Amino acid sequence: MNNRSTLLAIESSCDDTGVAVVQREGEDIRVLASLVTSQTDIHEKTGGVIPEIAAREHVQAIGPMITSVMKASGIVVEDIDAIAVTAYPGLMPSLAVGVQAAKTLAYAWNKPIVPVHHIEGHIYSALLEKQDNQFPAIVLIVSGGHTMLISVTDHLTYKVIGETRDDAVGEVFDKVARMLGLSYPGGPKLSVLAKQGNPNAFQFPRPMMNSHDLAFSYSGLKTAVLYQVQALGDDITEQQKADIAASFEQAIVDSLVGKLSYALDHGDYVAIGFAGGVAANERIREALTELAYKRSIDLLIAPKELCGDNAVMIGYAGLFAYEAGRARQWQEVDAAARKNIEECSK
Ligand code: KG4
Ligand code: ZN
Repeated sequence: MNNRSTLLAIESSCDDTGVAVVQREGEDIRVLASLVTSQTDIHEKTGGVIPEIAAREHVQAIGPMITSVMKASGIVVEDIDAIAVTAYPGLMPSLAVGVQAAKTLAYAWNKPIVPVHHIEGHIYSALLEKQDNQFPAIVLIVSGGHTMLISVTDHLTYKVIGETRDDAVGEVFDKVARMLGLSYPGGPKLSVLAKQGNPNAFQFPRPMMNSHDLAFSYSGLKTAVLYQVQALGDDITEQQKADIAASFEQAIVDSLVGKLSYALDHGDYVAIGFAGGVAANERIREALTELAYKRSIDLLIAPKELCGDNAVMIGYAGLFAYEAGRARQWQEVDAAARKNIEECSK
């Protein structure tokens, strides 16, 4: 009996196709191969993701990626214990491509499937920055589709303690970037522009800062930025654009730090986790590093290459889920556009 688990992992919930092979042997977790194909160029033209187009691109990409990743990993089909796949939540046409690929392989290879919740993947991209004593952790997930605070009391044990009431942080970054004339996805471009600006030039609202709970809301901030951009009109200078970017980014930083501080004041945590596409943002990473230092608490931030959607994180969560008995036969696995992560707790 060996104690080694090897998974092929697949992610296709939005507009990035990911395939990876991950392996765990005792405490040692390795990535044997990983590929991500981004559709940014295609969605840049339409200013956002059109689900049917995203699904078509996943179909084109996924087969050759599976072949390449299997080859690069140096393993053979017999070495694979199970196939981990993002089954929920996400854009249904996109999710269906990855799930269908996993089911076809599971049938052909006679392997089980480990359905993984997309947010579980993001959580594990941060948690695995440390091997032990991570729990209880408070994990902040910020991406194009999600802004959530999750209390993780043990492996695969989740409680959502805060969520956005309207827009997700990444979505607001993209919308504000668009107001400033930056192309989709504008989040990373906006944060580059913000480096040239003064974060105190404009006073934008800090959403829900005094709400005495863990709910986030960003539509008010978005509207305030829009009114400011409209007030400056066509005469807006490059410096003013940079100042708006910096002031907006500072409002986001303050709101995220404020909510995390509130959560730390009202809970007993040994670590802060931070992941999701927006976790690539330098300013927010710096601010959380400062917060963790002040609070003398461990900070586990997903490495930059695992912030955006990828299959490595799905494989990481999949390894723990597989070992906890969450593997299923292919007939039992279906994609779902929505699912509460708490239902995936062990
Ligand atoms: O996790 P992700 O790749 O996809 C979703 O699951 O949504 O996150 C993508 C989001 C986009 O909104 C993008 O603009 C944002 O993450 N993003 C950033 C940065 N890098 C990516 N936002 C702010 N600053 C960044 N450096
Ligand atoms: Zn994501």
